[in-house]
Amino acid sequence: MTIETLEERLRRAHTLIEALPYIRRFSGHTMVIKLGGAAAAVGDVDAVLQDVVLLRFVGMRPVLVHGGGPEISSWQERMGMTPRFVNGLRVTDAATMEVVKMVLTGKVGPDLVARIHRLGGSAIGLSGEDGPTLLVRRVDSEGGEDLGLVGEVDHINVEPVLSILDQGRIPVVASIGLGYDGEAYNVNADTVAAELAVALRATKLILLTDVDGVHDREGGLLGELDPGRAEQLVADGVIAGGMIPKVRAALRSLDGTEAAHIIDGRVPHALLLELLTAEGVGTMFAPTAPAS
Ligand SMILES: Nc1ncnc2c1ncn2[C@@H]1O[C@H](COP(=O)(O)OP(=O)(O)O)[C@@H](O)[C@H]1O
Ligand SMILES: [Mg+2]
Repeated sequence: MTIETLEERLRRAHTLIEALPYIRRFSGHTMVIKLGGAAAAVGDVDAVLQDVVLLRFVGMRPVLVHGGGPEISSWQERMGMTPRFVNGLRVTDAATMEVVKMVLTGKVGPDLVARIHRLGGSAIGLSGEDGPTLLVRRVDSEGGEDLGLVGEVDHINVEPVLSILDQGRIPVVASIGLGYDGEAYNVNADTVAAELAVALRATKLILLTDVDGVHDREGGLLGELDPGRAEQLVADGVIAGGMIPKVRAALRSLDGTEAAHIIDGRVPHALLLELLTAEGVGTMFAPTAPAS
């Protein structure tokens, strides 16, 4: 055995031992993780899911929430529809809602579940209509524009998700809700993840996206963000598009969680680095404003 090999072994053992305080701290804790469609389109989805499976096996209770924005848009286009957004929310008529359902619960969700099984974990996919888990009401039109079948979460029934977690499995939740009128509604997946995090008393909400975090006006990464600064950046148009519901979701989750993180889902194992090492990645939101 060469000295290099021994050093290499010690380094590897050290890496595992470094995770020990984090595993001890978070074992048994619920973590709500949202995989954005944007990150899924460009990142290594298996690397993300490997992290989720590992978290499960070290005793955490990860809940995976998924959107599917780019895939929904691409299928809309194939059907001759034109995707439209208002403040990051998809304008959803009845035909669009059919596409949303087919893509999320027919394709994206089952694909994530199958991948988790290939990686040695166990998962069950559900939509907010199942149970029902997510009861929603129609969102008011923004600036006079009717968004159609777009819902906001009014009530969460956590029991279906808890029973999957209690079986040792990973719930994979599609961002569709059931309206009180019996219709299915499209709900922004960041919002679903935040509301689930609060309802499940999760320790953290982690939103994986296709940027390294929230950027300031100059394009620099904001390591931490407090509610006041965040709303100012939205008002100034620095935070725009899909980042608006994402930042609002992160802030909303602070009603129950210890912290929310917007991190780069394109970076392999960003989730493990965030949860099991001292290295903070992306933008963190914590209940108390950071000292400035
Ligand atoms: N201030 C900002 N900082 C970072 N990203 C921003 C900002 N404002 C708008 N964005 C946009 O928000 C996008 C992420 O939201 P979205 O496209 O909905 O992704 P996801 O599928 O992860 O929800 C980024 O790709 C970026 O183009
Ligand atoms: Mg989005």
